[in-house]
Amino acid sequence: MDNNKPIGVFDSGIGGTSIWKEIHNLLPNEKTIYLADSKNAPYGEKSREEIIRLSMKNTDFLLDMNCKLIVVACNTATTNAIWELRAKYDVPFIGIEPAIKPAAINSKTQIIGILATKGTLNSELFHKTTEMFQHIKIIEQIGYGLVELIENGQIDSAEMNQLLHSYLQPMIEANIDFLVLGCSHYPYLIPQIRTILPDHIQIIDSGLAVARQTQNLLSQIGFNSDNNNQPIFYTNTNPKVLQNILGDKYNVQEKDF
Ligand code: DGL
Repeated sequence: MDNNKPIGVFDSGIGGTSIWKEIHNLLPNEKTIYLADSKNAPYGEKSREEIIRLSMKNTDFLLDMNCKLIVVACNTATTNAIWELRAKYDVPFIGIEPAIKPAAINSKTQIIGILATKGTLNSELFHKTTEMFQHIKIIEQIGYGLVELIENGQIDSAEMNQLLHSYLQPMIEANIDFLVLGCSHYPYLIPQIRTILPDHIQIIDSGLAVARQTQNLLSQIGFNSDNNNQPIFYTNTNPKVLQNILGDKYNVQEKDF
């Protein structure tokens, strides 16, 4: 294994950069290539077959770029396609799933909320996870419209605020003490969510856990050992929104894939 090969990271759009940031913070010497398939976002409303097809297309692109491992920085793609990806390709995959376990284990009210896409909440993998915590009441809410607004650069809009209120108010009334963010786009909404939720409700996402898993896997397959670690970002739509989220330090390239 060539240690200096990049880590490939993909998502249906810009949301997976929330995971990429954790990976880059924890593993600053690693080269990374981030792929935003924004042209096809949102994945959450697509059929399982279509999500698998798009995940394979993204993987093929990253393997052509010589990646040594792939991080599926998308809950929807992980919960619908990770088994098929692992069956088809030799490269190791790390996926992201909603952090139900830490919420369920630490909940005092035994009631937790999860906000995720339709594709994630309907997946077999998600059902398998929730079956392990039958003593916990899990309030599931599909985040209709949230990914579209984020992809359009409307994170801090009145429409977003209204949608978040309508999704979170029933959870607050049901006495949740944890809110699980089951979509990699949603960490960008934490400032707004925080203004809606009472202070005692904790918000959790899986970003850091994925970065730690990546670190563990690299301890087996090899860390980067040269210093050429400038990340590369590709998107297949107008790069403006991705560029805004990343800031001037990084250069986003538009590419057809
Ligand atoms: N960011 C993705 C996720 O974690 C997918 C959102 C979407 O495209 O619907 O689920």
